[in-house]
Amino acid sequence: MRKKVTVVGAGNVGANCALRIAGKSLADVVLVDVVEGVPQGKGLDLLESGPVEGYDVSITGANDYAPTANSDVVVITAGLARKPGMSRDDLLIANYEVVKSAAEQSVKYSPNAILVLVTNPLDAMCWTALKATNLPKARVIGMAGVLDTARFRTFIAQELNVSMASVSALVLGGHGDTMVPLVRLTSVSGIPLTELLDAATIDRLVDRARNGGAEIVKYLKTGSAYYAPSAAAIEMVESILLDKKKVLPCAAYLEGEYGINGLYVGVPVKLGAGGIEKIYQVKLLPDEQAALAKSAVSVQELIDILKPRIGS
Ligand SMILES: NC(=O)c1ccc[n+]([C@@H]2O[C@H](COP(=O)([O-])OP(=O)(O)OC[C@H]3O[C@@H](n4cnc5c(N)ncnc54)[C@H](O)[C@@H]3O)[C@@H](O)[C@H]2O)c1
Repeated sequence: MRKKVTVVGAGNVGANCALRIAGKSLADVVLVDVVEGVPQGKGLDLLESGPVEGYDVSITGANDYAPTANSDVVVITAGLARKPGMSRDDLLIANYEVVKSAAEQSVKYSPNAILVLVTNPLDAMCWTALKATNLPKARVIGMAGVLDTARFRTFIAQELNVSMASVSALVLGGHGDTMVPLVRLTSVSGIPLTELLDAATIDRLVDRARNGGAEIVKYLKTGSAYYAPSAAAIEMVESILLDKKKVLPCAAYLEGEYGINGLYVGVPVKLGAGGIEKIYQVKLLPDEQAALAKSAVSVQELIDILKPRIGS
């Protein structure tokens, strides 16, 4: 049986997710978007790349969820970008409505699917999808840490002029300014980063990774990053579909792990056919634990805004 993935939101991230799924021949893809014609047009364009690229997966587009039935994985990238005059809270509420409906509709047609959330603000949108669907927490997962870690690894590899594949790193925490890179566990083929670079250089690279999204937005001016984000989301999807059991930093619903309760925060997890099959609890140093707790507070602030809405 072929696997099936629905990608909700046929914008920059969504279309590139579809492209990567097809390129790896991972699954048939259904793109869903509210804009008439866009998912259909992008789906057909991607399908027509098949003979050249050598893939045989089916890629279709739709404005409703019936064609998404029986998907194995649903990637939710649908959402609005911040417009002039819109506060972060306005964006939060707008995307809350989008993600709530996307998650509900997806699960109505694919009750066994695993949801991978991409829409920002990421940790709050994961919470929204979990609460809206009542799915087991193992099946609602957020993409942020793989991207944040990829950015950190890129900058380290550039600095040391070594292969990116040799750099291993781990970033915890909420997606955004409060993410927590675990420098002490970052290495180049096992050599601790702290033996290769001085503290000031490491701080500069951490800072750049932390602001990696903003750096791209500044260049693009009218949108945000999508090549690396789609690559990160599809690494997760691949690990689920092929039951690879990769250990990746993902936004997971915590119930006591790391002293955090009832929130989505980025932590290392094992991703396989069951979704999150294990949450790894790394022993943190006091300053790392404090940084993670601070990151959780900023996620909690958004959840406090959303809480009165759930069920409404
Ligand atoms: N988690 C991360 O690390 C990460 C990284 C990059 C982008 N993002 C987020 O991903 C989201 C998408 O980014 P993008 O660059 O693709 O934006 P985009 O504007 O290119 O695409 C968003 C798409 O969502 C569609 N959409 C809006 N409401 C919808 C609805 N109700 N149902 C279905 N589709 C709907 C829009 O029509 C649009 O095509 C944004 O929220 C962005 O902030 C997150």
